[in-house]
Amino acid sequence: MANHVIFNDQYPSIASSDALYARAAGLIPGATQTLAKGVGQHVRGVAPKFLRAGRGAHVVDVDENEYLDLTMAVGPLVLGYRHPAVDKAIRAQLDSGITFSLPHPLEVEVAELVREMVPGAERVRFAKNGCDVTTAAVRLARAFTGRDRVLCCGYHGWHDWYIAVTDRGRGVPADVAALTHTFAYNDLDSVAAALDDETACVILEPTTFEAPRDDFLARLKALCAERGALLIFDEMWTGFRLALGGAQARFGVTADLACFSKAVANGMPLSVLTGRADVMRLLERDVFFFSTFGGEALSLAAAQATLRTLRDESVPQYLDELGTELRDEYNQQAAELGVPFTRCVGFGCRTLVSFAPEGVAAGSDPLIMKSFVQQELVKRGVLWGGFHNLSAAHTAYDVDYLLKAYRDVLPLLRAALEENRLPQSLRGEPVEPVFRRTGAFNVKPTAPPPSPPAPPPAPAPAARAGEVAVAAKKDPTARKDGNVRA
Ligand SMILES: Cc1ncc(COP(=O)(O)O)c(C=O)c1O
Repeated sequence: MANHVIFNDQYPSIASSDALYARAAGLIPGATQTLAKGVGQHVRGVAPKFLRAGRGAHVVDVDENEYLDLTMAVGPLVLGYRHPAVDKAIRAQLDSGITFSLPHPLEVEVAELVREMVPGAERVRFAKNGCDVTTAAVRLARAFTGRDRVLCCGYHGWHDWYIAVTDRGRGVPADVAALTHTFAYNDLDSVAAALDDETACVILEPTTFEAPRDDFLARLKALCAERGALLIFDEMWTGFRLALGGAQARFGVTADLACFSKAVANGMPLSVLTGRADVMRLLERDVFFFSTFGGEALSLAAAQATLRTLRDESVPQYLDELGTELRDEYNQQAAELGVPFTRCVGFGCRTLVSFAPEGVAAGSDPLIMKSFVQQELVKRGVLWGGFHNLSAAHTAYDVDYLLKAYRDVLPLLRAALEENRLPQSLRGEPVEPVFRRTGAFNVKPTAPPPSPPAPPPAPAPAARAGEVAVAAKKDPTARKDGNVRA
């Protein structure tokens, strides 16, 4: 019998997941299109590998096990799976067409809606992926300033200008890689030291899990203006979620350009670039940013319904309240249960559970701790990757259930640590480390490694996944908790 969202006696059967994975592994590199959804982020042998359906905040895997989902498709499902108003809008649009030979009225209507909600959205353009718009923003900044260097902080997508700051930048020309540097969040001095007259822009997530300190964002904006660089907010996670107007509204700081995706269309592929008219004007001709599917109407219909629902039902406020309660309760429970090495951090709409090695017995790798918690949550019907990506579909009951599950699982973690048997308590391979930069100041991108003399022999599927893990471990700034967001 399949598992459900209860404290099940058994771990779920995942035979169909494993069978599909065996077919994918020899065919689809990485066996996923999104790193955070891949097997490397889930305890193998325990966690499901394929989902077939969702409703609200619940999902069903291909073995018919049901879970309370805390990942929510890695961000987009801000209203939950199969939201009635969004699905109705998509169906209605489907009846008149998907994409057209001329622009569709929805392009204007959704742009107007975005302008209403997002501070500084004097101009609005659409694309499909988050990295489409971060890349367009960086190119615009380069064109506008006549400079090439980029300072970044956080993850911004797979394109050349960014990815070479990680250890997965092979294939990026060294000249391109040399132009991008990272800086430390909340460390204005580090930016000031790096921001020279060759710097086109500073791009960052206005917040991830750490709140801006000492007016960091406003002072960063002033610094950029003083040095002639553009400030770009990557609002992939904060947009329409932290507040209706995103981080710009929440923190009262308007960037020169802002990039959105994820929550904007509740699961349909749409990204949005907004910003200053004098900068975005370059998109009229000189900076080329056009794509076949940018005006695809099903996604725009979904966006219109999503944005109206977010506004009319005050969803960002709901997420903030529910998530703050979850975070605070988690931390209180952790203290009560004697597991102070784990904490929940972040703003309510999206929080992170971290496992710190400090003060814990030797050999207690945070990734193993995270893997153990994931394994035990799976048994209790919770799909969890270390984050609480809340949606309007998550209820107070769901949060209560999750907290009960943690209350059940954290003492098991403590006992396994105290008895020095945590690794043996894992029923499968632990989750893998991934690249993620949050704290490295002005780290120069490393040159791509030289090509191997001869192509390596085709690896077995498991070895291929392992190679990725080994590569990721080389990153000196990899997050210790191993959480990944793309
Ligand atoms: C902050 C941030 N920026 C950019 C991206 C890239 O978005 P996409 O994967 O849609 O290209 C992501 C993806 O997770 C992200 O989290």
